[in-house]
Amino acid sequence: MRRDENWCRSDRTVRDIEVLSVDLSPDIERENAALVLLDEAESSRYESFQVEHAARQFLLCRAGLRKVIGVRLGQPATAFSFSKARYGKPYVCLDGTRAPLSFNVSHSGDFGLIALTASRPVGIDLELPRRTVDFESLGARVLAAEERAALSQLQGFAKASFFYKLWTSKEALTKARGTGLSYNPSSFQVPDEILRGGRTARFQFPDQPAQHWVLIDLGTETYGAALAFRSDD
Ligand SMILES: CC(C)(COP(=O)(O)OP(=O)(O)OC[C@H]1O[C@@H](n2cnc3c(N)ncnc32)[C@H](O)[C@@H]1OP(=O)(O)O)[C@@H](O)C(=O)NCCC(=O)NCCS
Repeated sequence: MRRDENWCRSDRTVRDIEVLSVDLSPDIERENAALVLLDEAESSRYESFQVEHAARQFLLCRAGLRKVIGVRLGQPATAFSFSKARYGKPYVCLDGTRAPLSFNVSHSGDFGLIALTASRPVGIDLELPRRTVDFESLGARVLAAEERAALSQLQGFAKASFFYKLWTSKEALTKARGTGLSYNPSSFQVPDEILRGGRTARFQFPDQPAQHWVLIDLGTETYGAALAFRSDD
């Protein structure tokens, strides 16, 4: 990528996890350079998108991911491939073997986030607020009863930001676990510490009490975002 080295850049480090932000805004030169990094399967996936911005999100996030993974592995960005685990979570294969790297990607609008670590399962989720969302009816499908009750007390901006905090927390946790939304998001509650404005909380899935996770709220005034990873202790 010749012109703008900054379009995929390190945003912060949380413990041993590097979080990168990716600029997904339209840029034909950047997109052409990104295309060269994709393998055959990725190129045909890119071609199959019907919606232009979805194609661009995939292309630029995947190219950014290839660049950072290449640096970590000390390999060219085209030297490895991606396979998928049972529920679709991608992982890296180098020379036919799973590489000792864990990552996760999220994109929304013109913005993407990548989480990358060597050591543990990780999940990341990002949502830019949408203009017309019926939070009550969406919440009825994806939130637990107490979360829905708390949401119903709020209005306007507070309601939207509470919803996105809940939603990105649930997505980050289920993406870290690898199930995505095949694990019912209404079947567990986001920790109270996070809902009260705390940035970090420990978490256990109800059906997996021996396994501890850490949830970090990365949200800002303009977007909801969360990072989740398996805890060592
Ligand atoms: C696929 C899913 C894991 C995330 O979907 P999403 O929130 O739409 O999309 P995101 O941009 O956050 O994440 C997509 C990335 O997650 C990764 N991913 C796919 N399946 C995954 C899984 N089972 N576990 C973890 N990560 C997964 C992929 O890398 C994918 O990016 P890529 O296709 O460009 O490689 C899943 O949770 C899902 O289907 N979500 C539905 C979204 C929805 O209903 N949103 C309404 C919110 S208001």
